Amino acid sequence: MSEPRVLVVFFSRTGTTRRLAGALAGMMSADIEEICDFTERRGALGYLRCVIDSWRKRPAEIVPAGLDPSQYDLVLVGTPVWAGAVSAPVRAYLLQNRSRFRHVGFFCIFGGLGAGTAFDEMRALAGKAPVAQCKVRASQVQRGVRTTALESFAGVLERHLAHYAALEWSC
Ligand SMILES: Cc1cc2nc3c(=O)[nH]c(=O)nc-3n(C[C@H](O)[C@H](O)[C@H](O)COP(=O)(O)O)c2cc1C
Repeated sequence: MSEPRVLVVFFSRTGTTRRLAGALAGMMSADIEEICDFTERRGALGYLRCVIDSWRKRPAEIVPAGLDPSQYDLVLVGTPVWAGAVSAPVRAYLLQNRSRFRHVGFFCIFGGLGAGTAFDEMRALAGKAPVAQCKVRASQVQRGVRTTALESFAGVLERHLAHYAALEWSC
């Protein structure tokens, strides 16, 4: 029986989602991939570009993924919430890879509003319901990355992975 393979994929503009993704990948013994896009998003003008992309529901132009999500049993996709929506680079990643996901989980980092609508968008973009999802406030990550929400997310994911492994064993 082979070990289930897990991939953590994320975009981060200012590092908060990156910190959480790193912790999650460690907890799940997962491979990790950062989504990079070609838009300058630093500073006030960069912030404005993020907001406009979100309002227009516009996917970003992203660097092609290095790791193939179809090679993983579970792909965990993480985004910051921008203007109550999924970030434009994650929007692009989900659209480009929607036919390659076996199972997905979602996590998002937010200031205080809009995580629910971002999750709804992620589900529609991926064309799949997540096995679990986890929202964490940016302020919590700044206090310490291993939050209770992250620990219980990882616990639910581990149970799903054990179930997949058992199914494979019984075939
Ligand atoms: C353009 C922009 C729009 C944002 N809009 C929201 C929002 O609607 N609701 C919210 O709770 N946080 C919002 N935030 C805060 C981010 O979700 C939060 O700071 C997140 O941690 C950033 O992640 P990062 O450091 O990985 O880029 C916004 C941030 C940016 C840059």
